[in-house]
Amino acid sequence: MSLYSKIIGTGSYLPPRRVTNQALAEELAAKGVETSDEWIVSRSGISARHYADPDMQSSDLAVEAAKRALDMAKLAPNDIDLIILATSTPDFFGGFPSTACVVQRKLGITNECAAVDVQAVCSGFVYAVSTADNFIKAGSHKNVLVIGAEVFSRIIDFNDRTTCVLFGDGAGAVVMTASNEPGVLATRLHANGNYGDILCGPGRISNGAIEGNAFMYMDGQAVFKLAVGLLDKVANEALQQAKMDASEIDWIVPHQANIRIMQGTAKKLGLGMDKMIVTVDQHGNTSAASIPLALDTGVRDGRIKPGQNVMMEGVGGGFTWGAVLARM
Ligand SMILES: CC(C)(COP(=O)(O)OP(=O)(O)OC[C@H]1O[C@@H](n2cnc3c(N)ncnc32)[C@H](O)[C@@H]1OP(=O)(O)O)[C@@H](O)C(=O)NCCC(=O)NCCS
Repeated sequence: MSLYSKIIGTGSYLPPRRVTNQALAEELAAKGVETSDEWIVSRSGISARHYADPDMQSSDLAVEAAKRALDMAKLAPNDIDLIILATSTPDFFGGFPSTACVVQRKLGITNECAAVDVQAVCSGFVYAVSTADNFIKAGSHKNVLVIGAEVFSRIIDFNDRTTCVLFGDGAGAVVMTASNEPGVLATRLHANGNYGDILCGPGRISNGAIEGNAFMYMDGQAVFKLAVGLLDKVANEALQQAKMDASEIDWIVPHQANIRIMQGTAKKLGLGMDKMIVTVDQHGNTSAASIPLALDTGVRDGRIKPGQNVMMEGVGGGFTWGAVLARM
């Protein structure tokens, strides 16, 4: 059995259609929904996001991200023995077949490896990495493909200005492998179902139709308040588990939802924003995809280097939250 799981490849993919705040504000104005670049930037830090074309599903974005991660890891698709995919916008209604199974097929994996989706909304990627870490450390699986992929634009209501300006589409992936060198140093996951209704997809399927609200719902202020209280706490739990101090963190790679939440977390951890990978300005909130998208950005532009300690953390609907501390 290996002592650690280690991230040996990262990849990401954004659908080509990039929409700036200005362009979005103009589109929304045409249907009587008022917003502005100034409001969106000042409240969220977002300047642009990407949207998938209607024929593009989460699996299509996931496959592109996965290919790039496999390439960096120097592994072939058939070397993978487990796929864990985090999404709240699966290819199919009800989530089956799972998007992980669709990705297995589209990657041409013929080894009948295990494949499963996890659902923890914006915490999905930290849940998925933590799950992969435990499978690898238990010795049952060696090379795990972990993906966060979303087409959130499908479930946002473009008549609701309080949410529609915040989200985007994209995918990120990592390849994790069994290693005797550190690796994932600590993982901490939490959930509290009592806060389920502040961030949710409240509609239900019945008789072939959606009953109630077919779009996502968010009480932004309630989510904001909860998030700022949880993120540094869970990061500190991971540090404690690894017997490390915040000063040993080289990079924070947080869920990219809102720059003000991200700034608050850095400050509470006693770290400057120069230690944080920020992509929310260009990607918006891509839910389960946001952390691996930011991680891959930092790795590929050379900021995140081998041997450095990276703190990934996020919150999401459920309510769920978690942190992964990993040595790259
Ligand atoms: C959503 C969020 C950006 C809203 O910011 P806020 O400062 O709380 O703003 P409020 O909701 O108080 O709204 C302030 C005003 O702006 C208006 N407003 C809301 N969305 C707007 C938009 N897109 N454009 C212009 N005005 C808008 C509101 O109607 C309100 O107007 P009023 O005062 O006349 O009623 C903020 O609450 C937030 O970031 N929450 C966390 C979201 C998050 O991280 N979610 C993901 C977690 S995984």
